[in-house]
Amino acid sequence: MKRYAGLFAAILAFAFGMPVLAQAPIVIKFSHVVSPDAPKGKASLYFKQLAEKYTNGRVQIEVYPNSSLYKDKEELEALQLGSVQLLAPSISKFSPLGVKEFDVFDLPFLMSDDSHARQMMASPMMDELNKKLEAKGVSPLAYWDNGAIVYTANRALIWPDDFRGLKMRIQGGKVYDAVTRELGALPQILPFSAVYQALQTGVVDGEDNVPSNILTQKFYEVQKHLTVSYHSRLTYALITNKTFWASLPPDVREGLDRAVKESTTFFNATAAKDNADALEKVKASGKTEVHYLSEAERKAWIAKLMPVHTEMQARFGKEFIERIYKASGFTPPQT
Ligand code: LMR
Repeated sequence: MKRYAGLFAAILAFAFGMPVLAQAPIVIKFSHVVSPDAPKGKASLYFKQLAEKYTNGRVQIEVYPNSSLYKDKEELEALQLGSVQLLAPSISKFSPLGVKEFDVFDLPFLMSDDSHARQMMASPMMDELNKKLEAKGVSPLAYWDNGAIVYTANRALIWPDDFRGLKMRIQGGKVYDAVTRELGALPQILPFSAVYQALQTGVVDGEDNVPSNILTQKFYEVQKHLTVSYHSRLTYALITNKTFWASLPPDVREGLDRAVKESTTFFNATAAKDNADALEKVKASGKTEVHYLSEAERKAWIAKLMPVHTEMQARFGKEFIERIYKASGFTPPQT
């Protein structure tokens, strides 16, 4: 009788439409380009833990750090094709998606302090920009603010003229390009995974980034100077494939939404602390000299770079830029 019990249960299950086998978990691949020890690396692992818990194991998150699955540009293509389900790229890398509006956030000194950045990300203008991403098959789930960025190079960058003739790695985007050219340097787009070697071999002379990336990717070992310029910001968008997200059972999506929310709070707190600690560690390493700008030097940087704001009116429209100023609480400085 026992021999037939399993068969009998299977027939019953089949007859009543019940699954015979336990359902396989939904696998979500989360690819990113930074170290597991960087704020994004830590937040991706935190998200994995929460997401699996809140969905009672119905979702399994596979995290691929350090460009081990895809590099910068490839990961965006892979997301649109559905080969990967979650990414958290810098929004400065969105122009290959055909959404140029996100480049506006690279306007120099626009969101260079925390309060302007938080105000911008919470503003209704983000809904407008989010719709542009949705139209490309990409759904933004959250924005993760990795703080203000600094410059590194093998030359001390104190005055704007110090950039003259340097080859600088940039993340991408027309604004980034214009900023670098305005400083008299030569911009070169490189994927994050190629930066260390490019700095080491002299393919480029410098770059700009958050201190936590400079520390965890060891850029400070191959750069003699770091300037705390805080001229711009590194913001990530946690993005997913729109069709994939919409296909998830509502209760699973609910669990994931909760995990997204809590990971965002975790990320923002971690980033602020990690960047402050990283700057101290870079200083303590003795390998890179850290420079802080005086009031006069900072004013000279702002005076040099404000023309990029005017130049970019042709790209984004004056009205759009003014709405961004209003949304972020930015007042163009009188120079
Ligand atoms: C960079 O390319 O420098 C950064 O966007 C990398 C990252 O994701 O923090």
